[in-house]
Amino acid sequence: MVNWNEIDAYAKSWVKEAGEEIKKSFNQTLNIETKSNRNDLVTNIDKQTEQFFIKKIKAAFPDHNILGEEGFGDNIESLEGITWIIDPIDGTMNFIHQQRNFAISIGIYENGIGKIGLIYDVIHDELYHAMKGKGAYLNHRELSPLKEVNVNEAVISLNVTWVIQNNKIDPSILSRLAHDVRGTRSYGSAALELASIAAGRMDAYITLRLSPWDFAAGIVLLEEVGGIVTNLHGEPLNLLTQNSVLVAKPGLHQRVMHDYLHNGKW
Ligand code: IPD
Ligand code: CA
Ligand code: CA
Repeated sequence: MVNWNEIDAYAKSWVKEAGEEIKKSFNQTLNIETKSNRNDLVTNIDKQTEQFFIKKIKAAFPDHNILGEEGFGDNIESLEGITWIIDPIDGTMNFIHQQRNFAISIGIYENGIGKIGLIYDVIHDELYHAMKGKGAYLNHRELSPLKEVNVNEAVISLNVTWVIQNNKIDPSILSRLAHDVRGTRSYGSAALELASIAAGRMDAYITLRLSPWDFAAGIVLLEEVGGIVTNLHGEPLNLLTQNSVLVAKPGLHQRVMHDYLHNGKW
């Protein structure tokens, strides 16, 4: 029998410990490298943080698998067993440029089912956390079920990338939505954008390209408060590949899918 409370307690204490280390790093000079392109950044602190989690997890739970963004975990080809999906710093560009608006994101899955989600906004000391079937919390406060909202009253998270020329979607599709909603935002940390929807601070998040570590924790939180999570074709997200992502409050998801995305046939 898996002791999820024990796993949850360890995960939370490690996340806090990692957060303290990240804060200490503000006094050091960062070693910044690029990955897939000149704006895809990684620092020595991203790498150290991932390695910190891997060391802790392997010592306490040697039979658990780890999928980490920076590649220090296991070579994951299936989600059989228990898998930790880790983004050590989500929002690395913000971490480098702003020293805020970034988060540690950890989703823990059992046979592909999300069991625990943790998103830690280090600078605000806000830990968003959820266990499947036990509700979602922001620090000690339980988050309320999400209420329906109309398109014209919605504040949505959408990066300008997707309303200018890009190689994923015709910009006119989402610029029409951007025109109709009350407002748009872009935080630059997918994990924080998802956590913001779970906390009712934002109504939807739309993006054309996210990796499993960007959304693994957020999905667990959102499921607890009734958020709807699919790709832009209305299908469930795949935790082993990149995905487009449409997350929204109930009702709003349906409207965006129907009125703007032609039920996924755009
Ligand atoms: C990125 C952030 C960003 C999103 C990118 C992600 P990283 O993660 O979540 O908001 O737009 O797609 O790759 O690289 O900072 O961990
Ligand atoms: Ca990320
Ligand atoms: Ca990252």
